[in-house]
Amino acid sequence: MSLVEGLSAVPTQSPQDSRALRGVLGRFATGVTVLAAAGKVPCGMTANAFTSVSLDPPLILVCVNRNASIHQAVLESRSFAVSMLSARQEHVARYFADHSRPRGPAEFAAVDWWPAPSTGAPVMRGALAWLDCSLAAAYDGGDHAIFLGSVLASGAESAQDVLLFFCGEFHRPQLRKPRDLGPGRAQ
Ligand SMILES: Cc1cc2nc3c(=O)[nH]c(=O)nc-3n(C[C@H](O)[C@H](O)[C@H](O)COP(=O)(O)O)c2cc1C
Repeated sequence: MSLVEGLSAVPTQSPQDSRALRGVLGRFATGVTVLAAAGKVPCGMTANAFTSVSLDPPLILVCVNRNASIHQAVLESRSFAVSMLSARQEHVARYFADHSRPRGPAEFAAVDWWPAPSTGAPVMRGALAWLDCSLAAAYDGGDHAIFLGSVLASGAESAQDVLLFFCGEFHRPQLRKPRDLGPGRAQ
């Protein structure tokens, strides 16, 4: 079956269907990221539709609603940064998911950030880890765009406490400290 045939087979969703599907998908626990683009004016958005794709070459992807401000910002700047949020950054996640947040230069005045080394896109200070990406491809994903990012730089920070999103709510789980398994003992 071709990709076009596959897409034409996707059924139209009623608002009730969409709510039910959101409930189903929400049972998949995820981490929480802030996606940000540089450009004339930086732009951010909370996103959990993030995944690793490939190590060689290094690729990740994020799914972005076509109506979100960052959709156009990523297409224009051809780049973006991803910050993986720690448990202490729930307020940051809520801020970048709030459609009424300030826009323009004021959008990032409320948070502590630094410019990613290759693209200058904002990275949240205190995040668990970050990725600095150029836009490798943009695919059609229905009401979302699927942005494939080519990783130009990345880093893991000292924070260890993870922020999760599950069933429509933020969670700060008590995790066992990651064990240092040493060489050859990873399972
Ligand atoms: C935990 C969480 C995860 C989200 N993940 C995504 C996502 O992956 N993609 C997306 O387009 N919107 C996602 N959203 C919604 C956007 O953050 C929100 O609609 C935002 O306001 C959109 O940007 P805008 O204000 O510029 O329209 C998420 C919201 C929350 C609270």
